[in-house]
Amino acid sequence: MAKSIDVKDLDIYYGDFLAVQGVNVHIKARSVTAFIGPSGCGKSTVLRSLNRMHEVIPGARVEGKVVVDGQSLYGAGVDPVAVRRQIGMVFQRPNPFPTMSIYENVLAGNRLNARKMKKSEADTIVEKSLRGANLWNEVKDRLSKPGMGLSGGQQQRLCIARAIAVEPEVLLMDEPCSALDPISTSAVEDLIHELKSDYTIVIVTHNMQQAARVSDDTGFFNLKAVGEPGHLVEFNPTTKVFSNPEEPATEAYISGRFG
Ligand SMILES: Nc1ncnc2c1ncn2[C@@H]1O[C@H](COP(=O)(O)OP(=O)(O)O)[C@@H](O)[C@H]1O
Ligand SMILES: [Mg+2]
Repeated sequence: MAKSIDVKDLDIYYGDFLAVQGVNVHIKARSVTAFIGPSGCGKSTVLRSLNRMHEVIPGARVEGKVVVDGQSLYGAGVDPVAVRRQIGMVFQRPNPFPTMSIYENVLAGNRLNARKMKKSEADTIVEKSLRGANLWNEVKDRLSKPGMGLSGGQQQRLCIARAIAVEPEVLLMDEPCSALDPISTSAVEDLIHELKSDYTIVIVTHNMQQAARVSDDTGFFNLKAVGEPGHLVEFNPTTKVFSNPEEPATEAYISGRFG
């Protein structure tokens, strides 16, 4: 199920503004890849380009290629909605649907399919996804209660359950713990660790300890100067990035000299 991703000579624009330039990276299947770097260097922009989510922003466009297991995401005839089903996304702020129960929140993505589901099938998906997100035991007796009634950390795991309910191949996470307390953060980090046996995970994080804890590979993004496009400075195994980085700019960033 999990798939590798190859990014080739990727440039990303917002209108005339070149936000990110020349990204080349190979993301391994069944691994966790972290993107780190100072604010505004294009981490979220690159992440969104990996499932064509940026296309919902007027004027945003890419040049170059994103290839998922040999298939070009931006090829002619590729349906962006199908891409987003295959490559799920979890956002910075937990965003359960406010009017929906916990149960219906998990199924929200599946409900977009035209096909009607039997109750038994829906029950199975809900339980499997909530178990997958390490949330089942906490919510199994209140599935019909609003998703908004959960704590922030539980809401974020509910959003992860919703993302995995459609059985994607890749999970993209944009600072998924930045709105969470340390205990919830630790629960989500444990979950990321478990999910990587089935999924290819790319996580943007501001927290370098988190990148070091959860990821196999790390990409460091930076700006050459204000107003210049962001670019990928270094991509290496996480242990190397944090112990013996290749680039002086990476060293300066991870040792806290800027950013
Ligand atoms: N929706 C948008 N419209 C126009 N410019 C944007 C948009 N989102 C991000 N940008 C610009 O693209 C650059 C990269 O932003 P972003 O990807 O959000 O960086 P990061 O996630 O690393 O903080 C910034 O200069 C930012 O202002
Ligand atoms: Mg961002």
